Amino acid sequence: MTRQIIPVDPFDFIIFGGTGDLSERKLLPALYYRQRDHQFSEPTRIIGTSRTKMSDEEFRTFARKAIASHVAAADVDEKELEKFLARLSYVPADATTGTGFDALKKAIGASTAIRAFYMAVSPSLFGSISDQLKKHELITPASRIVVEKPIGRDLASAQALNDLVGDDFHESQIFRIDHYLGKETVQNLMALRFANALYEPLWNSAHIDHVQITVAETVGLEDRVTYYDKAGALRDMVQNHMLQLLCLVAMEAPSSMDADAVRDEKLKVLRALKRINGTEAPKHTVRGQYRAGASAGGPVKGYVEELGSESNTETFVAIKAEIANWRWAGVPFYLRTGKRLAARVSEIVIEFKPIPHSIFNGDSAGPIFANQLVIRLQPDEGVKQYIMIKDPGPGGMRLRQISLDMSFAQQFQSRAPDAYERLIMDVIRGNQTLFMRRDEVEAAWKWIDPIQNAWENAKQDAQGYTAGTWGPSASIALIERDGRTWHESN
Ligand code: BG6
Repeated sequence: MTRQIIPVDPFDFIIFGGTGDLSERKLLPALYYRQRDHQFSEPTRIIGTSRTKMSDEEFRTFARKAIASHVAAADVDEKELEKFLARLSYVPADATTGTGFDALKKAIGASTAIRAFYMAVSPSLFGSISDQLKKHELITPASRIVVEKPIGRDLASAQALNDLVGDDFHESQIFRIDHYLGKETVQNLMALRFANALYEPLWNSAHIDHVQITVAETVGLEDRVTYYDKAGALRDMVQNHMLQLLCLVAMEAPSSMDADAVRDEKLKVLRALKRINGTEAPKHTVRGQYRAGASAGGPVKGYVEELGSESNTETFVAIKAEIANWRWAGVPFYLRTGKRLAARVSEIVIEFKPIPHSIFNGDSAGPIFANQLVIRLQPDEGVKQYIMIKDPGPGGMRLRQISLDMSFAQQFQSRAPDAYERLIMDVIRGNQTLFMRRDEVEAAWKWIDPIQNAWENAKQDAQGYTAGTWGPSASIALIERDGRTWHESN
């Protein structure tokens, strides 16, 4: 099956933090792929900017290296790469002083094309950059600003940040990126729910026993010492990615794929999440921190040794969340995420209720497992529907659990595009469906803040877990207390 590529209008893409890690690992490779697949129209330009002094040629060399390191060799087409590099230029600029913004204005010129300002920088710079853009009259009606998480570290700081950017850009011009929403399988979750008649009638507390959302990583702290130790897993993963996944599972059917129709429904879910207060936090949440162990094929240090100083920051969180509305009352959503876990796997498990009565002889037929729908985001993207069947053969009626396996990789045999490719093109198209609206981000913090406060007030230590395991034993207890178990995510 060939994919249909619809070219986007010409645009200027200005990357603040152009020489940084995100630009190197994600943005430049994603833009290269869109070039290679002929999605750009002329004239499209990409301008890198940061405080580092660099010439256009040096920026092109940086981009060439980024593509060599982060794009599969088989996907590098020399002719397209040269065309891509020719679009690149570089302007050094410092938002704290405003130096370089005149030069940036000159580089952009009087173009009325779509203008996307990408903030691949620390959030502490969002306000000053957007103010400098306004001051230098760089914000046109066709401009958009893309902001990366973390959007705040609590409700108050998120509101302050949203105000700063909101002073210069209209909400319809602000694209708050959550790269999980750009993942193919996450969008497939919407297709599964709303393009099939099969699941939706069962998608409620009458038929679903509980939901599990796991985002497990094998990596540790990586090079993010300053950011991560101040954030921790609750702010880094739960406030955004995990809650967005929960919203897509739990929301009512929007009336269309229109950005506000989808975001209105997600917002209702966030608002319906039951607050977890100080007394409930110890029962409903688990926070952990990895200790030395083995992960990704070798021995690894513990978090504190990697960090080089004492820390109580959590690298693992498990939460039993509940949604107080008619559809979901009584259906727990178990969330867990962590670093240095046993495997890199992100998945959503919908476990249906057990059958009400068995007609089979339990001794000879064996156990009957509840149906499960497993939506796997990574790796091996796909969907598995676990059902019970009769074990084939002339023997008695023996039952067996099998999975109906929809592997997207096998079905479509094409490269799964990185989330950033889709999301950057949506920015250019002006489609905000897969971006977080201001009220969503703030509603998510309203739920996160009481948990964070409860932990801080109780001085709740992060429980140690050995790197390469599935987290602290308390995470297993969290779900097993309710007579359920975590899905074997291997
Ligand atoms: C980022 C987090 O948002 O997502 C990282 O800050 C995390 O800590 C990453 O490693 C995970 O993304 P992915 O796409 O690799 O699952």
